[in-house]
Formats: sequence, structure tokens, C-alpha cells
Amino acid sequence: MAAVNGKKPRVLSGIQPSGNLTIGNYLGALKQWVEVQHDYDCFYCVVDLHAITTAQDPADLRQKTRESAAMYIAAGLDPEISTIFVQSHVPAHSELAWMLTCMAPLGWLHRMTQFKDKSAKQTQESIGAGLLNYPSLMAADILLYHADLVPVGDDQNQHLEFTRDLAQRFNHLYGETFTLPSVMNPQAGARVMGLDNPTAKMSKSEAAENHAVFLLDSLPAARKKIMRAVTDSHREIRFSKERERAGVNNLLTIYQAITNESSDAIEADFADMGYGNLKRAVADCVASTLEPLQARYYELMTEAGYLDSVLKLGREKAGAIAEATLKLAQERMGFLAPS
Ligand code: TRP
Repeated sequence: MAAVNGKKPRVLSGIQPSGNLTIGNYLGALKQWVEVQHDYDCFYCVVDLHAITTAQDPADLRQKTRESAAMYIAAGLDPEISTIFVQSHVPAHSELAWMLTCMAPLGWLHRMTQFKDKSAKQTQESIGAGLLNYPSLMAADILLYHADLVPVGDDQNQHLEFTRDLAQRFNHLYGETFTLPSVMNPQAGARVMGLDNPTAKMSKSEAAENHAVFLLDSLPAARKKIMRAVTDSHREIRFSKERERAGVNNLLTIYQAITNESSDAIEADFADMGYGNLKRAVADCVASTLEPLQARYYELMTEAGYLDSVLKLGREKAGAIAEATLKLAQERMGFLAPS
């Protein structure tokens, strides 16, 4: 998307601080955020309001929120170029989310696969209503900033569709207010799968020991997890959509997301090699990605005050835009302005 009238199109995205970030978060989201930050006007938030749709320990949530923000910077986001902020620091998110919740048809919400998957694991009595309304909050995040593009993994495409539909509905009922956002899926690595179970997306909240490589895993631990990744009894190293071959496909996907090489070039490079060679190559490139990232992260976490100043600036920049949009939406919906 080219700049219109000299203004860069706006990008907004977020990750929940509900666990330790994994290479799936890095390759499926953060890496792309960093790559686009000079070409777009970028807003990246730590979505703590989304995290509480499932129960969180308070001290843990606070800590994870700081850690996530530090990791955004460690991964390469420049706070002077990208706006980095915490979702709950800008109250307009909660306020617009309520207005959108009131307009969101239950039928649409019940059709969301993420809700169906997450609620299937709990009883009716234990599911918070926030889990169902999650997409309205996400729509508020996006619409408050008039975001043109939203970089997310393809599991979030349905929530993006929902956001567009809801924005359209609002615009139709109350007049043009919101920009309809488009999805921006990364080319490779959009979906890094579990190393222990390559048919399920790698998750930061999955407990199994060899499931995910966390961004803060020690390099030997990260290597070990990759060397233990589930593969298959075939020999051929090639990209494949077959369920049986999901493990090898996942390793190749990780390799490709890091090296940015074409599928053909990668398959040619591994043509005469065994799975052991493939795993070692993946382990090497993952380790060389993690090493500088961890160094920056630990430096940031010891530099008292810096992170707070980044989040304060982010809150001010994001808040000003979000407040203006909220005000317009409130006026359109018929709220009496305070005098
Ligand atoms: N739902 C997203 C996820 O789980 C996180 C998210 C919340 C988000 N608000 C957003 C992503 C706004 C993009 C834009 O991955």
C-alpha cells in the first residue's frame, strides 16, 4: 500500500501478555512488525485487557506486561518510530469496546472459531463473558486508530472480518466514522506449529516441555527442543501440506521465516540431507536469532526507567488519537457531551 497524500498508511497490532513469548510470536508477528515500521505509521500494544478474558494472576500479569513491552523493543521496534503502549493505559479501548459490544450480534460472536475452541475446554459456569466479547475489544483496538493494515497470524483473520463487518455496520447506522482495516499476513512463519505436536499452533500457554521455544530459553535449551521436534518416518525434506509431514514442514517454515530464502532454494539446499542436518540447521538459525535479542532484552530490563518512559510516551501518542476517535463515535451514537 503506497502512501496517500504523503501520509503513511497506519498499522496496528498487539500480543497478549498471557505467557512467555515464543518463536511463534516472533516469527509470526514481531519480526514483521519490525520489518514494516519504517514504511507505515505503526502502533503496537500489549493487550492486557484481552489477557484477562482467561484468569490471570495479578502479579504475573503486571510482570508479563512489562516483559512483553521490553521484548517488543528487544525484537527491534524503535520507540522513536513505532508507538509502543499498554492497552489498558488508554481507557478509550474499554469504552469503545462496550459500544461495539452492544452492536455485535450474538450470532457473529458465537461463530468465532477462537471462542468455540477456547470455550470447549471449559464449562458454561467457568467461561467469562469476556471470552465471547473478545472480538469487540479487538475491533475497538483497531478502529480507534483508523488502522489501514493489521499484521496478524492467519488464525486471526476471522476476527479481522468481524472488525470490518462491525465497522461497516456502525458507519451505515451512524455515518462514516471508522476506516475498514485489511489483514496483513506474513509470507512465511505465519503459523509456527508446536514442536511436539505440529498439527496445533505453537502456543505460549501450552505446558508441555518440548512444545515451544521461548524467546528467553537458554540457547542450549532451545537447541534441545528443536533436536527433539516430532518429524515422521519419511526421508524427503520438502514443504508439504500433508498432515503426516507437518513436523518437517514446520521446521522448514521456521527456517524460511528466519532466512527469508525461497522454498525452492531451501529444498535444493537440503536435498541430500537427513532430518538430523535439518534440525541442526534450524537450531543454528534459531540460536543466532535469540542471542542478540536476549542480550538487548536483559539490558532493557536492567535499565531502570527507560521502559517506563517508552510506555509513557506511547500512552500519550496513542491516547490522543484514540480519544479523538472515541469522542466522534460517542457523538455519532448520541451521547450527550459533558459541558
Ligand atoms: N487477538 C490477537 C491475538 O490473539 C491479539 C490482538 C488483540 C490484536 N487486539 C488486537 C491483534 C488488535 C491485532 C490487532 O493474536
